[in-house]
Amino acid sequence: MIISGKDLALEVKNDVAERVKQCVAEYGRPPHLVVILVGENPASVSYVAGKGRDAEEVGFKNTTIRKPESISEEELLGLIAELNADESVDGLLVQLPLPKHISEAKVIEAIAKEKDVDGFHPLNVASLWQKLPCLLPCTPKGIIKLLDKAGVQIEGKKAVVIGRSNIVGLPVSKLLLDRNATVTIAHSRTKNLAQVTSEADILVVAIGKPLFVTADMVGEGAAVIDVGVNRHPETGKLCGDVDFEACKEKASVITPVPGGVGPMTRACLMENTLECYLNKMMNK
Ligand code: GUN
Repeated sequence: MIISGKDLALEVKNDVAERVKQCVAEYGRPPHLVVILVGENPASVSYVAGKGRDAEEVGFKNTTIRKPESISEEELLGLIAELNADESVDGLLVQLPLPKHISEAKVIEAIAKEKDVDGFHPLNVASLWQKLPCLLPCTPKGIIKLLDKAGVQIEGKKAVVIGRSNIVGLPVSKLLLDRNATVTIAHSRTKNLAQVTSEADILVVAIGKPLFVTADMVGEGAAVIDVGVNRHPETGKLCGDVDFEACKEKASVITPVPGGVGPMTRACLMENTLECYLNKMMNK
């Protein structure tokens, strides 16, 4: 079974859109998401455009601020401080990666925790690992929703996550652990990787290498979640970290690229923006 992230994302966004209408009636304005894009990285330009489209679709106010690659760290931090202080802004994110002269750690830390719709702020990350209320990072949250939608049982299952990034690998491992899976975090230097992954009931791949996971690495009946967004080395077409055509024969459920995890990440961003807005409105 191929799990359509597009279809589930639409369901999530429709639900957000309904709630936005009620919010406007109750609080007089929709949630406002601000996305900062530095430079011209084509992948980032495309991701940010997608976020803007989804924000429009659910009825948010949506502002994209584009800054040149040459912006100084100081100026970017100043802009973030202004947006933190701006009462009309509910959610704020800076698209990553950033140019080398700007510290991503400083930028992430500068965003007010209450507006951190990405869930990247160290205080949000700490809350996640301490099981305290927090904003869940969008891609990991979307992956759990996809597994639930596909009817994949998580509790008691063996999950293997390939990749240990702050954005996906580590937080999705934590969410799977919190659902009582037994989790192995693997990576490019894991010995006998195929042996480890082929024992997984749930295999999440976020390593950023085109077609890295081959059929021999997938156990019969596994649920395979492909977080990769790459260019195919020969065709130049968008492809995941998983050799989809070969692996779909062995998997019980599998996500396609495009149309799998990507749309869910954006749908969860919309949910998180609404959550930030509601937290603010209800604490007033
Ligand atoms: N770059 C790749 N994924 C993401 C994301 O989820 N948020 C931000 N801000 N940048 C990214």
